[in-house]
Amino acid sequence: MALLEIENLVVEFQTTTGMFRAVDGVSLKVHEREVLAIVGESGSGKSVSMLAVMGLLPWTAKVTADKMTFNGRDLLKLSDAERRKIVGKDIAMIFQEPIASLNPCYTVGFQIEEVLRFHLGMGRSQRRARAIELLKAVGIPNPAERLDSFPHQMSGGQCQRVMIAMAIACNPKLLIADEPTTALDVTIQKQILDLLVKLQDEHGMGMIMITHNMGVVAETADRVVVQYKGRKMEEADVLSLFENPRSNYTKALLSALPDNATGDRLPTIADYFKDGSEIAGAAVS
Ligand SMILES: Nc1ncnc2c1ncn2[C@@H]1O[C@H](COP(=O)(O)OP(=O)(O)OP(=O)(O)O)[C@@H](O)[C@H]1O
Ligand SMILES: [Mg+2]
Repeated sequence: MALLEIENLVVEFQTTTGMFRAVDGVSLKVHEREVLAIVGESGSGKSVSMLAVMGLLPWTAKVTADKMTFNGRDLLKLSDAERRKIVGKDIAMIFQEPIASLNPCYTVGFQIEEVLRFHLGMGRSQRRARAIELLKAVGIPNPAERLDSFPHQMSGGQCQRVMIAMAIACNPKLLIADEPTTALDVTIQKQILDLLVKLQDEHGMGMIMITHNMGVVAETADRVVVQYKGRKMEEADVLSLFENPRSNYTKALLSALPDNATGDRLPTIADYFKDGSEIAGAAVS
């Protein structure tokens, strides 16, 4: 049985000009120990589809699906109380903006310990010990002292490490990482990706890696879903995707990689479709 199974997910937002469909019939599965990358340009519905899984969309969102299960449990039928027991514990998410996701008013130690208190009911000294262990696991030096730091006293890379520590605090079965490296310096990006892959392997987690970067896909994923304008364009294992992309949109994404650049500038997706051909022509369900 797959860890996460989604069939025909549709998310629509109520707007002043009517309903806007941000996710338009996406289906996907993630198995235990598997890394699934969801790739696609800005606005293709990557974050919205995963926020729907987490139940974290605002009330203006209408979420429907033929199926949305985690470990066989129907996520669409959970009560708020049942959802709170699963989300942040068995399914954890690293959000797209690490600094905005940490609370500036509390120390990082407090924020990590709060996860441990809420989900695992740990006592004070046990929490502190586990928080130190977690900061150590994500590569923060002097973890015991750093627990007393506020987010603004840490670098972007360190904040991202803290977010990862919070996400893995309860040993989740599924970790959703939403563009975990985009906000970071290039030199730090590789370290964070390596850390995530190492933790995923050590803990045997399933992982969803959301990115618009084919380089990140190549480094991390077993399987890939390519999304465009809320629809799934293609799904393949990572080798087949790079060697034999089927949809025009995937070909365009690959052609924008630095290795494929000719001349003094990188081609863009718009260059690739200069002839006006329809990108979305080859959507698959
Ligand atoms: N709360 C909301 N209300 C209305 N529209 C929204 C809301 N949240 C997202 N959208 C729209 O849904 C679409 C998909 O957004 P989403 O954030 O999932 O894109 P994304 O693929 O994650 O992009 P990025 O790579 O920039 O993070 C976008 O057009 C976005 O403007
Ligand atoms: Mg996003």
